[in-house]
Amino acid sequence: MVADDRQHLLKYVTGIAVVLENGQSPLTQFMFWHQEGQSQLMTGKIVIIGAGGQLGRQLLREFGERAAGLARADLELTKIKSIRENVRALRPTAVINSAAYTNVDRAEEESQLCRAVNTLAVGQIAAACEDVDCPFIHISTDYVFTTEPGKRLPWRETDRPLPLGEYAQSKWRGEHEAAKVERHMVIRTCGLYSAVAHTEARNFVNTISRFAQTGRPLRVVNDQFCTPSFVPHVATGVKFLVDAALTGNARWGTYHLTNRGAATWFELAEAIVELANLPVSVEPISTAEYAAPAPRPKYSVLDCGKYRELGGPQLPFWREAIEERMRGVEVA
Ligand SMILES: NC(=O)c1ccc[n+]([C@@H]2O[C@H](COP(=O)([O-])OP(=O)(O)OC[C@H]3O[C@@H](n4cnc5c(N)ncnc54)[C@H](OP(=O)(O)O)[C@@H]3O)[C@@H](O)[C@H]2O)c1
Repeated sequence: MVADDRQHLLKYVTGIAVVLENGQSPLTQFMFWHQEGQSQLMTGKIVIIGAGGQLGRQLLREFGERAAGLARADLELTKIKSIRENVRALRPTAVINSAAYTNVDRAEEESQLCRAVNTLAVGQIAAACEDVDCPFIHISTDYVFTTEPGKRLPWRETDRPLPLGEYAQSKWRGEHEAAKVERHMVIRTCGLYSAVAHTEARNFVNTISRFAQTGRPLRVVNDQFCTPSFVPHVATGVKFLVDAALTGNARWGTYHLTNRGAATWFELAEAIVELANLPVSVEPISTAEYAAPAPRPKYSVLDCGKYRELGGPQLPFWREAIEERMRGVEVA
């Protein structure tokens, strides 16, 4: 081990992922040092799993030096048997799992893989948290709720989920796994899109912006209502909730956390095109016309009153949030 390597790892721990010069992933490096009895650098942190994803990246930034991030190269969640040992070895003060199999449509074909990541792996992370007696914060989704004809009242944490489709079911089962840890928090969010700098992120805003370049009219579903949410806003809320629970100022359990208001994907697409001045038209279509492989709830707006009652930072309305994103504020 050389001093330079240690500096690289320190940078990684403080939230800036780096490529190690010796080609090892930071976790491999950590395990190596651990064997040498030099594990202090990465232990005692809030460990963020899924640190390469849209929300995970932002959470690393939000928690700063208190956090250590594990991206997929550091912890492959389909290697189920390795998860518990690897997470436990970090002796975290808390674990936040933002990793997930998130391709809702492909999950219908890859149900086994989807379940492995969204349910089985979550169970192993929960077991690791139990082993070291640390809290487990798990990120989940509005898609745990079903289609209820005529519903126009936001879903509350106490409402009964009835997930449609493989992705939604795997996430709901994942919530159950997380809840096996006494000090657990399940945070359900919705329609995430990241800051402008995270251009490779798979999200609706990037997809619309890319398709718009073709100049062909965009046909977008106009009968599914949710609350599109800006990752930096959600990350601020997650940090507030986690800190409140860690300091005894909030109960553990389930929380809803999104921007405010409700929109259809068509309305969001229209806003993106208008704000970016893109030369395309947007046409509303129905869910039936779009014919996606996976079913989705027609109305999955979440009631975030429980979060607001704790006095956390107010998340803006969805329209203000997308305006902020399209202005290109550099936050990622
Ligand atoms: N995106 C949304 O609209 C939305 C809506 C509601 C709730 N959520 C929930 O919010 C959380 C964060 O979502 P996000 O938008 O940040 O997702 P994301 O950008 O797709 O990030 C998910 C991360 O999980 C990683 N991952 C996937 N399979 C893995 C595996 N087998 N082993 C290790 N890592 C793996 C991905 O790595 P790779 O990049 O290498 O695949 C990615 O870095 C998830 O729990 C999601 O279910 C998302």
